[in-house]
Amino acid sequence: MPDWIPVAAASECLPGTSIERVAGNRMVAIANVAGTLHAIDGLCPHQGGPLGTGMLCGTILTCPWHGWQFDVTTGRHRISATMRQAVHEVCERDGTIFVRLTAPDSAATEQRA
Ligand code: FES
Repeated sequence: MPDWIPVAAASECLPGTSIERVAGNRMVAIANVAGTLHAIDGLCPHQGGPLGTGMLCGTILTCPWHGWQFDVTTGRHRISATMRQAVHEVCERDGTIFVRLTAPDSAATEQRA
C-alpha cells in the first residue's frame, strides 16, 4: 500500500487554483475546487505539458501548452471518453497537503477497456 507523501503547504493551493508538485517520481497536478482538493497525474498526455500550472475553471483544468482539458474529479479528458489521467488520493492535515499515488498504469488500464 503506497504511503501518503507531503507535497505542499495548504496555503499554496487556495480555492480556485491548482499547483504542480513532484510526488515520488511522478508529476502531480493538485487542484482546489471550492475547498475540496483533487489530484491527477500532472504530465499532459498530449506533449508532456505541466497540467498543474494550467488554468482551473470549476472542475476543469486546462493544459497551459495547447489547451487540452481534464476534469480533476475524474481525470477524464473533456472531449475524449477514453482518455483519462490517473486520479490520486489527496488530503490536507495540519496545513500540509498529502497525496497517495495510484498505480502508474491505472489510467492506461481504463483506456484499454
Ligand atoms: S501538452 Fe498539454 S495540450 Fe499539449
